[in-house]
Amino acid sequence: MRVLGIETSCDETGVAIYDSQQGLLAHVVSSQAAIHAPYGGVVPELASRDHVRKLLPLLRRVMTQANTDRSNVDGVAYTAGPGLIGALLVGAAVGRSLAYAWNVPGVGIHHIEAHLLAPMLEPEPPCFPFLALLVSGGHTQLIAVEQFGHYRILGESLDDAAGEAFDKTASLLGLPYPGGPLLAKLAESGDPNRFNFPRPMTDRPGLDLSFSGLKTHALYTLQRHGQDPTTKADIARAFEEAVVATLVIKCDRALKETGLQRLIVAGGVGANRRLRNGISKLALRRRVRAYYPRIEFCTDNGAMIAYAGYRRLQAHANDPLAFFAKPRWSLSAIEPS
Ligand code: KG4
Ligand code: ZN
Repeated sequence: MRVLGIETSCDETGVAIYDSQQGLLAHVVSSQAAIHAPYGGVVPELASRDHVRKLLPLLRRVMTQANTDRSNVDGVAYTAGPGLIGALLVGAAVGRSLAYAWNVPGVGIHHIEAHLLAPMLEPEPPCFPFLALLVSGGHTQLIAVEQFGHYRILGESLDDAAGEAFDKTASLLGLPYPGGPLLAKLAESGDPNRFNFPRPMTDRPGLDLSFSGLKTHALYTLQRHGQDPTTKADIARAFEEAVVATLVIKCDRALKETGLQRLIVAGGVGANRRLRNGISKLALRRRVRAYYPRIEFCTDNGAMIAYAGYRRLQAHANDPLAFFAKPRWSLSAIEPS
């Protein structure tokens, strides 16, 4: 089965073709970071317009790269939510229309489900069940994945998502949007012993998280200790250490509570090197196995949508012709397939 995947939920246009026999045939991602950087965050209307501009040329490019034409596409998958409504509508309208025109099934995909399945695109994919740490720009959740389509949310951020906290703290440090990766780079030269940031919500039981206090802590530290480059790097380091330590503590707790033997990390912040190191050390200590998507599939991409689409189409999903897009959509509300 050969599936075209389309991702347009936020500020990346991603298109890919996944083949159940041959694996991923081609994928392209076009980032809008430069468009939104002057505004310090994603401007929804600009995002929608850029998806309109980029989607069809990217589709053509992917079809050529995959040596595929409409006659050998067996299904079309598009991100149906959660995300920015205008951005989602671009991918949903194009995806559903192509499926109609090519007379193949079309399926709307839950963006977080696709992130969770991204490690399946790697040469040694995890088996079900597993624990998932989902750390993206919009969501931070610990999820027990019992099998494909069965997701139990164990805990989540009560305020900012991890990626959002990275981006907001990066902005305080004067770094352009999206600042997460730039903050991580700055942290490399920071002194880990100068500041000690709190590990929010680790002193009480439970698996929920909170990151907005860390951003405020960064602001106060900056106000008290000055804005020189060394101080900024030290703050970046202390912030990153605190986020990573907090996530590792919560993963440790979730593994203990569930008894799960596999742990996957997905979402944009999953690209963070210090987080990967922290999770790998935890996995060694707990004698469980950790899995990660390749770096380019941590952030938004079409490959994870094509793969999730393949899994849903294999389970005979075929949405009605009226396409749907849901800006808010809980993972626990999706159909088990
Ligand atoms: O999953 P994603 O591409 O988009 C959403 O679905 O939200 O995640 C994007 C987020 C941004 O907040 C970005 O700053 C963050 O992931 N990010 C990182 C790193 N790479 C991306 N944060 C920390 N360290 C990184 N290396
Ligand atoms: Zn995402």
